[in-house]
Amino acid sequence: MAPSSEFLATRIVAPVPLRGDPVVVELGPGTGVFTDRIQQRLAGRGRHIAIEVNRRFADRLVRRRPAVDVVIGDAAAIGGVLADRGCRTADVVVSGLPWALFPPARQQRTLDAIAAALAPAGVFSTFAYVHALWTPTARRLRRALCARFEEVVMERTVWANLPPATVYHCRRPVHSPGAA
Ligand SMILES: C[S@@+](CC[C@H](N)C(=O)[O-])C[C@H]1O[C@@H](n2cnc3c(N)ncnc32)[C@H](O)[C@@H]1O
Repeated sequence: MAPSSEFLATRIVAPVPLRGDPVVVELGPGTGVFTDRIQQRLAGRGRHIAIEVNRRFADRLVRRRPAVDVVIGDAAAIGGVLADRGCRTADVVVSGLPWALFPPARQQRTLDAIAAALAPAGVFSTFAYVHALWTPTARRLRRALCARFEEVVMERTVWANLPPATVYHCRRPVHSPGAA
């Protein structure tokens, strides 16, 4: 899969506040396209924790972005990662995870963990490719998001991404593990 474009990165990190000291968790940073944008928005404030399962990507990120707290592990461990750092919840969770490659049970487990880790006024942002929006996998993701968040807003298409993509901004977690 090609890395996401700067245009998609700008859209997906928009919920990162420009004031205060937010706790931002990034899932599946990969080569770091979203990471760089999050760092720009934070400009030294708050905390930026990145959870990446691939050691090679994680090691590269540690070298390139020393200000980011990089964890090698599974995104579903987000609750434990926050607790280890003395954080009760995350204010923003940004996902670069490849949902289409996740088996259903893993997707549900990971989304449950994200919803449980998010602050009541927090935002979870993730993306999907528009050419695949009507596939069963993409529809399952939308249903799973709607079951866990009171509000799921799909942004307009980012055409300047290969392939074109859209962003979901999810607010007000319902905190009901095992939902749909
Ligand atoms: C498609 S890449 C996206 C990278 C980048 N955010 C982007 O959009 O260009 C997906 C990344 O998620 C990571 N990943 C996949 N499953 C994961 C999991 N369960 N926990 C953490 N990271 C995971 C992969 O190793 C890969 O780096």
